[in-house]
Amino acid sequence: HTVGVVTVPFSGGQPKGGVDAGPIELLRFGILDQIKGLGYKVDFSDGVDQYSSLKPKSDPDVGKMKKPRFVSSACEKVKGQVEGHCKQGSLALTLGGDHSIAMGTISGSAAKYGDQLRVIWVDAHADINTPESTESGNLHGCPLSFITGIAKNVAPFEWLTPCLKPEHLVYIGLRDVDAGEKKILREHGIRAYSMHEVDKYGISKVVEMALEYLSPSNDNPIHLSFDVDALDPSVAPSTGTPVRGGLTFREGHYICEAIHETGCLVAMDLVEVNPLLGDQTNLYQTVTVGCSLVRCALGETLL
Ligand code: ARG
Ligand code: MN
Ligand code: MN
Ligand code: MN
Repeated sequence: HTVGVVTVPFSGGQPKGGVDAGPIELLRFGILDQIKGLGYKVDFSDGVDQYSSLKPKSDPDVGKMKKPRFVSSACEKVKGQVEGHCKQGSLALTLGGDHSIAMGTISGSAAKYGDQLRVIWVDAHADINTPESTESGNLHGCPLSFITGIAKNVAPFEWLTPCLKPEHLVYIGLRDVDAGEKKILREHGIRAYSMHEVDKYGISKVVEMALEYLSPSNDNPIHLSFDVDALDPSVAPSTGTPVRGGLTFREGHYICEAIHETGCLVAMDLVEVNPLLGDQTNLYQTVTVGCSLVRCALGETLL
């Protein structure tokens, strides 16, 4: 089996510099060799992509949205790459970059798998603000409203067509959800397992319920979008919007292991690793945990 790797050194969906260096650090820590070590072929024919050339000369806010043109063209590029890997039958692994890029990754996997696709979004945040509901204007807080079509006025994202029904999405790890997002989750009946449910049922039951809900006969392709801030900041400190009370090291890995066991994983995003936040120890912890989450999703076992 082949893993198609897409690197997205992009930080335009939020204000902090450094998240664009995430992919470089993951590569420097040997993620490609680790994937090969699990027996996969790695297709990294795209190389480390450059996003600075996509930056428009002028990119004024559209409503509350910040850097909308830059985010749009970056995501459109990502979509093409992920779609290409999926259509070749490879598992598409995208290394971010901030979470706005999931507009591209999910559009790309949905271009191949259509209505069969299911998304598991592991995050402290719901990232489902609309251009109207966003308080920050940062587009990394908005990708799921675009993907699901809950957001309506999406210029300059004309290339993006809604490709995921709200009932084909499940969250795990939520603990910092904006008031406007809570309303959206309620109105659309979106299935979400917050840290409260993780505490209540335990992670194995939560993952079992999530998978049973998304794919009762375990035959739908799964796209896992993993924001490292889902993990507790003591586990993954180098990230732009850390929130206390997150997943433990093992809970994060368990999610990836259990999703691997379905045999249905077709795409994974690992996002929001920001090597510039914190000290060298923080960076080491965050990048190594990122690498091991990817390995577990690709089938690494403890025994
Ligand atoms: N909800 C907040 C916002 O809309 C935070 C989003 C954080 N998103 C992330 N991908 N880290 O700005
Ligand atoms: Mn996120
Ligand atoms: Mn987050
Ligand atoms: Mn359905």
